[in-house]
Amino acid sequence: MRQPVIEIENLYKIYNPGENEVRALDGVSLTVYEGEFVAIVGHSGSGKSTLMNMIGCLDVPTSGSYRLNGQDVSNMEDNELSTIRNQQIGFIFQSFNLIKNLNAVENVELPLIYRGMSAKQREELSEEALRRVGLLHRMYHRPNEMSGGQQQRVAVARAIAAHPPLILADEPTGNLDTKAGAQVFEIIEELHREGNTIVLITHDDELAKKAERMVRITDGHVDNGEYPDEKENF
Ligand SMILES: Nc1ncnc2c1ncn2[C@@H]1O[C@H](COP(=O)(O)OP(=O)(O)O)[C@@H](O)[C@H]1O
Ligand SMILES: [Mg+2]
Repeated sequence: MRQPVIEIENLYKIYNPGENEVRALDGVSLTVYEGEFVAIVGHSGSGKSTLMNMIGCLDVPTSGSYRLNGQDVSNMEDNELSTIRNQQIGFIFQSFNLIKNLNAVENVELPLIYRGMSAKQREELSEEALRRVGLLHRMYHRPNEMSGGQQQRVAVARAIAAHPPLILADEPTGNLDTKAGAQVFEIIEELHREGNTIVLITHDDELAKKAERMVRITDGHVDNGEYPDEKENF
């Protein structure tokens, strides 16, 4: 049996509670199993960023539960959440989010430093990750000395270096031209074939269709994994 990595049950995120409340997540239930490649797709305003912030432990829900890799993270404090993020999730963002004063290998190593790894272990893992994305020969280049596609591949290396149980990609090809985007997406597909668990957030139906499973979000509801009695439970 595959283990669940993400177990979200009846999750609500309500902004401005009261008369002008916005139910950005309106009773979302979703399970993602180890080794799955799931795309969460929806139009602007559907709740993607809100759900991504929950899955990525960047924010906490108004109510409902979220277990990540078996651990309940729905009521954690900020400092606990940042530890969980560092240990459990590899992030790939649309805008790469590399640190411009650091070269490629230093960027990849940064989350490993926060994990308290030895210099030797950091070097091994970051070189392995840069080799994995085909950029070992660029390890001493800074972000502004690389193309957008190369920068995003460094960000992919940073996400995978510590082999986290979940890779969370938010519009990872959104800032890239077609060719570079295809190359980055190909790496993500390879990571899935190698057994990684991947959640892709996108507004792009065509991209989402390439995932193993597509979960649509509309007005804070997901079409996949919802419990029929969610409203009664709230
Ligand atoms: N901080 C906030 N305060 C109030 N409303 C918000 C906030 N963030 C998002 N919303 C609202 O929640 C809904 C979902 O937004 P969001 O998750 O950003 O959707 P998406 O990423 O799919 O565009 C939208 O109606 C948006 O206006
Ligand atoms: Mg958004």
